[in-house]
Amino acid sequence: MCGIVAAIGIPNAVGVVLDGLASLEYRGYDSAGVAWPENGALRIVRAAGRVSELKSKVETCDTTTPETAMGHTRWATHGPPLERNAHPHVSADGRISVVHNGIIDNYATLKERLTKKGVSFKSDTDTEIVANLVAEQFTGDLLQAVEATLPLLDGTYALVVMSPQCPDMLIVARKSSPLAIGLGDGFTLAASDAVPLIPHTRKVVFLEDGQVAALTAGRCEVRRDGQAVPCIPAEITWSAEAAMKNGYPHYMLKEIHEQPVTLEAMFRNRLRLPRTDDADPEFMLDGLENLSDDYFRGVSRIVLLAQGTAYHACMVGRNLLERTTHIPAYPEYAADFRYRDPILDPSVLVIAVTQSGETMDTLHAVRLAREAGCNVLAVVNVVGSSIAREADGVFYLNCGPEIGVASTKAFTAMIAGLYFLALRLGQVRGTINRQELLRRARDLLGVGARLNGILASDPYIRAIANRYRNAANFLFLGRGTGWPLALEGALKLKEVSYIHAEGYDAAEMKHGPIALVDENMPVLFIALQGRRYDKIIGNIQEVRARKGKIIAIASHDDREIDKLADDVIYIRADSGIMNSICCAVPLQLLAYHIATARGCDVDKPKNLAKSVTVE
Ligand code: AGP
Repeated sequence: MCGIVAAIGIPNAVGVVLDGLASLEYRGYDSAGVAWPENGALRIVRAAGRVSELKSKVETCDTTTPETAMGHTRWATHGPPLERNAHPHVSADGRISVVHNGIIDNYATLKERLTKKGVSFKSDTDTEIVANLVAEQFTGDLLQAVEATLPLLDGTYALVVMSPQCPDMLIVARKSSPLAIGLGDGFTLAASDAVPLIPHTRKVVFLEDGQVAALTAGRCEVRRDGQAVPCIPAEITWSAEAAMKNGYPHYMLKEIHEQPVTLEAMFRNRLRLPRTDDADPEFMLDGLENLSDDYFRGVSRIVLLAQGTAYHACMVGRNLLERTTHIPAYPEYAADFRYRDPILDPSVLVIAVTQSGETMDTLHAVRLAREAGCNVLAVVNVVGSSIAREADGVFYLNCGPEIGVASTKAFTAMIAGLYFLALRLGQVRGTINRQELLRRARDLLGVGARLNGILASDPYIRAIANRYRNAANFLFLGRGTGWPLALEGALKLKEVSYIHAEGYDAAEMKHGPIALVDENMPVLFIALQGRRYDKIIGNIQEVRARKGKIIAIASHDDREIDKLADDVIYIRADSGIMNSICCAVPLQLLAYHIATARGCDVDKPKNLAKSVTVE
């Protein structure tokens, strides 16, 4: 999706906006633009390509005086990624400029009406229509003009509106697309998320759906349906460098190596072990207060909603939840669920799993579930995101901003978060005894440290990656929780290296994929010891018989696997379900190193955006 940054009342406002856009490029980066008031008119500079292209063009301008500016970095939805389609867009009469993140569903009808009125358009975008609609309403009161326009718009938007006739004010509005407002000492900022705000202020207001705000220097007046509503800032604890790379070459590698810390931090003040084994662990459920123990006891079924990597976490989560709560649990692609007329009732607990909290299909599936009377629990990373705000209960992953488009630390945090909830539900429902509960709680609290050993094998995994950097295809196979890990390993590889990769339940191999195996097909097996180990070894032998190249992720004490596999990545495995988190790290590192060996831009893979806020 797109990135928006705006500033008012701050010196070097244009520079602040440009730096902010650069930190938002993971949201979209095929074109960018910036606008500021100049000599009673608007100065607008736009460029196709990255924000750096835009910066080069702005350097030719005098930007020392403006203290108001807004900018946008785009991920094309309507119209090709050309300069003419870059935001900001301006009304035909030049009085209104808009930057927009989202999609106006009824833009064609609106455009037709405006065209009949004689309005000429310069772009293919839906956003340019919004600028002209506001101009239609504008008689000097910018807030009123925007409030009169919004009811005309079907679809989603985060908007910033500027007029040279109101150089000391910006109007922002939000419907389904996120918008954060930063309140500083004498200045105000707005952005698609908190990352660009952090270097300037930690006081952040997350605008809610249906809200409009008038921003002036250091002030923000929020309204809904024409009525003022309180504007209470939250304190963002993320440090600016937390969103930077900390010396790693890419955000993706930084975030892979952050996992021991993020997994340990997410349970600090949430899970406390007793001093002795004659008491239960204590679960602190901040954000889940609305879901009572009695409610949990009455749950008949669990539906897990997600897309992409988050869906793979749900597949692992299902195993955990069923094992500890004895409740049937069903992972669902939100995009399918929402159009399928699912069978729901208030006894169904819906868990939405999402890093961004803005995935459009997941958001709409959540709304459908709530309309059916279900309680929705969000497992989400981004504070104040749409799904977090619309759920009945929220479990924040607290793993800090995940900037790399390929999800890594959020994936392992999602599995751990679902495990935490599974243990808590099992405790409440009495379906897990104290000894098992304590063992698993220790498992959960200790998994972060286990990753340090695996991360130490990064150079070894990099050497393996170099041997496979020119593969044209890859198969990933696993059984049990190894199956979702195989899917995730394939997704990681394909999305950052552009190698075609498929993940399968290894039991499926003879039902098709084995036809692809020959000396040019690398096959990665998740082959930890356990009750399916012999079956996996059988699959490995079938691949060997067909000259496939074999990489195995294996248990540290496995003495047989190296006779069968060309390369083995050992992990310190135990009988616990946290092995799935331990297996994720080699898969992430393998994908990362193959992609970098191929010269790919791992943080901003082509055609992908960090948050899919369109359908
Ligand atoms: C993950 O590597 C992908 N970038 C993508 O599949 C992502 O997991 C999916 O779009 C869901 O995003 P969410 O967790 O923010 O909802």
